[in-house]
Amino acid sequence: MNTLAQQIIVYLSTKPSISSVTHLDPSDQPVSTLMKDIATTAAFRQLESVLHQTLPSCRLERSAIPLCPSVELALLQTELPQTPLPDEELRQVLASPAYWCFCWASGQVLAQYLLAHPERVAGKSVLDFGAGSGVVGIAAMLAGARKVIAVDLDPAALAACAVNAAINGVQLTMVHNLDAVQSPIDLIIAADVLYDRDNLHFLDSLPTLATDVLIADSRIKNFNHPQYRLLQTQTATTWPDLEEHPEYNQVRVFEHTR
Ligand SMILES: C[S@@+](CC[C@H](N)C(=O)[O-])C[C@H]1O[C@@H](n2cnc3c(N)ncnc32)[C@H](O)[C@@H]1O
Repeated sequence: MNTLAQQIIVYLSTKPSISSVTHLDPSDQPVSTLMKDIATTAAFRQLESVLHQTLPSCRLERSAIPLCPSVELALLQTELPQTPLPDEELRQVLASPAYWCFCWASGQVLAQYLLAHPERVAGKSVLDFGAGSGVVGIAAMLAGARKVIAVDLDPAALAACAVNAAINGVQLTMVHNLDAVQSPIDLIIAADVLYDRDNLHFLDSLPTLATDVLIADSRIKNFNHPQYRLLQTQTATTWPDLEEHPEYNQVRVFEHTR
């Protein structure tokens, strides 16, 4: 059983439930803005119906990210059900964890880093590998990237990227895997993808696809790759808070430059 999935289960079965989905207020807006908001609301509802395939008793909420309050994402409700999940629901969650409905600690830290260092992305073509909610790619666009390609093998994550991009007024290009990327890339950003040890080989292959690579991670204890240097260490929690072990709250950002 996957460690993250286990943690999600523990979290889902111990948190109380209340709170409501944020609704867009259509009053006093120009028609084009209103149309966009209606489309975003419809896409939000569709995304929520995807969540319901594994977690029928949970809702999505629009929430500001603690370390980057200017970024809002459609994420799992912050107040979660108190009662244990029914067996079937639990099985579904384990079979296909909805990583995209969390903003992971590493994603928060890397997004905050890019917003604080727009020179890293300004005018550049950026690829967000393992985009999930799209938080890092969205931050790159907000910081002035020319283009961001969000890559995720989970189709629901790409749907989440689309909704979250619309919420934040930016555009992302979405693809399912690296092979589908045709255009040259200046910078690859990847947050919290090394929880899956099968992804470790990407540490070697990503630098062949772009001049610069930034990796944010809190899952590898002794990250000691000769071609990456530590850029910064920061404490952060996944949002909504999964109350993970403190060691997973120590996020390190690594850089590979040619
Ligand atoms: C833990 S989430 C992190 C999401 C986001 N980067 C963040 O920090 O909030 C990991 C995401 O990477 C995706 N992923 C994992 N391995 C991948 C791979 N080999 N190729 C593409 N996406 C991958 C998963 O589907 C998931 O959406």
